Amino acid sequence: MIIKNLMVTGGCGFIGSNFIRDLLARPDFTGRIINVDKLTYAGNPENLAGIGEEYPGRYLFRKADICDRRLVRELFEMDEVDAVCHFAAESHVDRSIRHPEDFIQTNITGTFNLLETARASRGFVLFYQVSTDEVYGSLGAAGYFTEETPYRPNSPYSASKAAADHLVRAYHHTYGLPAIISNCSNNYGPYQFPEKLVPLMILNALEGKPLPVYGDGKNVRDWLYVGDHCDAIWTVMKEGAPGETYNIGGNSEMENIVIVEMICDVLDEMAPASPGRSRRNLIAFVKDRPGHDRRYAIDATKIRRELHWAPRESFVSGLRKTIAWYLDNRVWIDHVRSGSYQDWIQEHYGG
Ligand code: NAD
Ligand code: DAU
Repeated sequence: MIIKNLMVTGGCGFIGSNFIRDLLARPDFTGRIINVDKLTYAGNPENLAGIGEEYPGRYLFRKADICDRRLVRELFEMDEVDAVCHFAAESHVDRSIRHPEDFIQTNITGTFNLLETARASRGFVLFYQVSTDEVYGSLGAAGYFTEETPYRPNSPYSASKAAADHLVRAYHHTYGLPAIISNCSNNYGPYQFPEKLVPLMILNALEGKPLPVYGDGKNVRDWLYVGDHCDAIWTVMKEGAPGETYNIGGNSEMENIVIVEMICDVLDEMAPASPGRSRRNLIAFVKDRPGHDRRYAIDATKIRRELHWAPRESFVSGLRKTIAWYLDNRVWIDHVRSGSYQDWIQEHYGG
């Protein structure tokens, strides 16, 4: 399968921007990327600053809402799209609990629009749905999510992703659309918006602010460095079978409190606080997230066995890289924190 014009949706977000940088640098991808992003609060053009100049003729940015079907269809035709890697989503669980509406629109209707357009498109080779382990619900102390685990989403976010996954599966089954789904565990790494656990804790700790740990801090997530996720997606795009689902994970289960303590300790070592106090003193247990899933853990046997993929980073090496990146990128942080990139979007694109 040769992809000439790959539409990446949500390419200005955390994982999408890492994926675009990563893919353009690969010798085994020679096509063009069309990045379609609405630039919500989570979409930051600075994540891809200079990429167009670095890869002339191979990167196009289209500011567009995937909920606008007519526009999506126009872009497919104009840019001769033959494959989609679909990241665009409302992605933050806490926001979905407060305001579910946008999650329904973007995650379900937006995915439906892309599927409808892809199905009508001649020469279309692949629809890749980037999904999450949260669709499987919550685990007890034992067991893992496999590709056969039934979907039992618990938050408006995971329910909207589950609905989208079902549509993707149905379009393959009913219309023969070449589609693949991957369900990945929690990512962390450069360019992650500081509402998510890892960057929020890094930035709050650097600023001497409280580190809010939900509930008893013993909820478990399975962590994967973003570069490893991007590598897995490209492996599945190239070698995965249409109609299949692949679980992606780092075999790196950890309680939230352990992660927060590790972040404090690494920061104390790499950027000591002035009076030499441990940043662990900033940890504050706060009210739990409603409906908070207790444990996620991915069984990634299938992708390892069938596609020979395995993560390169351990949690410790990935966390150190991530913290080093946040320490080295104060301007990015300042712009995200002050919202000045939103001003830039307003100036350049309007609305
Ligand atoms: P993100 O919130 O950082 O980025 C989402 C991007 O989508 C932003 O650039 C935003 O502007 C864009 N977007 C939102 N609504 C849009 C719309 N209507 N039209 C066009 N663009 C729109 O998200 P992320 O953390 O990079 O996650 C990317 C994908 O990966 C999501 O589908 C998410 O469900 C999935 N995922 C994330 C994780 C994780 O740990 N972050 C893990 C597994 C799967
Ligand atoms: O599992 C994959 C999912 O991981 C993705 O599909 C989602 O898009 C992504 O946001 C992430 O969801 P989580 O809810 O697991 O991530 P979050 O960073 O919000 O929280 C991780 C854990 O840390 C969770 O148990 C809640 C807890 N937490 C989070 C925040 C923001 C805290 O204790 N304090 C906090 O301030």
